[in-house]
Amino acid sequence: MRITVSGAGYAGLVTAACLADFGHDVVSVDIDPSKIGMLQAGTVPMFEPGLDEILDRTVAAGRLRFTTDYAAVPSETEVAFIVVGTPRYEDGSVDLTHVFAAVEQLAPRLSQGSTVVVKSTVPVGTTAQVAQSLAELRPGLGVFVAANPEFLRQGAAVQDFLTPERVVVGVDSPEAADAMRLVYQPLLHADVPFLFTTIETAELVKYASNAFLSTKLSFINEIADLCEASGAIVEDVARGIGLDSRIGSGFLRAGPGFGGACLPKDTQALLHTSRQFGTGSRIVGAALDVNEERIHRMVGKIEAAVGAPLAGRRVAMLGITFKADTDDIRESPAVEIVRELVEAGALVRLFDPQGLERAKSVVPPQVEFAADAYDAMTGADCVVIATEWKQFGTLDLDQLKDRVANPVVVDLRNMYDPATLAAAGIRYSSIGRRDI
Ligand code: UDX
Repeated sequence: MRITVSGAGYAGLVTAACLADFGHDVVSVDIDPSKIGMLQAGTVPMFEPGLDEILDRTVAAGRLRFTTDYAAVPSETEVAFIVVGTPRYEDGSVDLTHVFAAVEQLAPRLSQGSTVVVKSTVPVGTTAQVAQSLAELRPGLGVFVAANPEFLRQGAAVQDFLTPERVVVGVDSPEAADAMRLVYQPLLHADVPFLFTTIETAELVKYASNAFLSTKLSFINEIADLCEASGAIVEDVARGIGLDSRIGSGFLRAGPGFGGACLPKDTQALLHTSRQFGTGSRIVGAALDVNEERIHRMVGKIEAAVGAPLAGRRVAMLGITFKADTDDIRESPAVEIVRELVEAGALVRLFDPQGLERAKSVVPPQVEFAADAYDAMTGADCVVIATEWKQFGTLDLDQLKDRVANPVVVDLRNMYDPATLAAAGIRYSSIGRRDI
């Protein structure tokens, strides 16, 4: 099929590359010339495992090309995906500017019978507005719409796209349903569960999923606090409850709180939408409150581990991305922790394997950047593990002791067995377990 994908961010680029890998003929359009320039030159503008191989393969096969110019989109496009950013406003509502700008740009390129698919995460009712806008921009042209939310996780995006647990497609016409079946033929063939539903339902499935995941995380994080206070061990509690299939074992790793471009934003948006519709959602509101308070709690944990006020103390910060295997630092708890540490007067020296470049313009200017984890530790009073990069779980503890006098490690991702650190003579504070 001839497919256009508007937006070459994490989700858009993965969508374009994977659809080309399915055998479709794909044009990826983004208004950012530097991003498209890099892609045209064969450079991937973000770190996402496995993405470069698929891009190389599909570009070489002539099935994927990049442009900033909607005029270059072939008018025989059968399916146009909109996968542009939907950032949030301060009050939790969603900025749909990019979605409607893409609709406007795409409209002249659409022909009779094509389908416009909204893959961006958009509040319930938006896809209907897109249909309305298309009807106004191209009166009389029979164009169909679909809502097809994306559930991929950064760091595992390619794998999630190619082997999803489910595909949700909201349609209001058999034509759009047929087009979507053709788009996803390889997944249908592989027996991936497909949920064809109403457009509004599909839109809400995405928000309800992310809000539920956020709730699960805030729940286990509060249980972790209770574990610390009571002497229980959070991993064992998580396993104990997760083995009940009604609860499920996924998404129960306690930590510094959830971040990233999606979970906080989408959870906030669901709360906003529920208030707009007058139903409200106290549970979702509480999940967000718990997550916000968690930053302060983590800084308190660091201060307690140091055993003194943070002013003038040297903190080696390991990790700034919101999770491992990505270079994304959007809404990363580590960024907020660094800001609060600096505000408290701590001297922060930071290392992250992928996130430093993006961090430079975001963290306070006083923060120092280290060449590696050991460089970050030199002369530190305390080592904080904020992101679960594998290399932070296999630190050379002798080197750590050489570089940190009277060493203490605050592990916000529970990467170590407390007994290992105890045996090495290192004080250790983690999440949902007693300090050693
Ligand atoms: C999320 C959803 O998982 C995905 O379905 C949706 O499409 C986009 O948002 P992503 O933002 O890539 O994906 O990150 P995810 O792996 O879900 O992690 C989100 C946050 O929760 C991270 O800060 C992560 O560290 C945290 N997390 C996740 C935990 O603290 N514990 C867990 O057990 C899982």
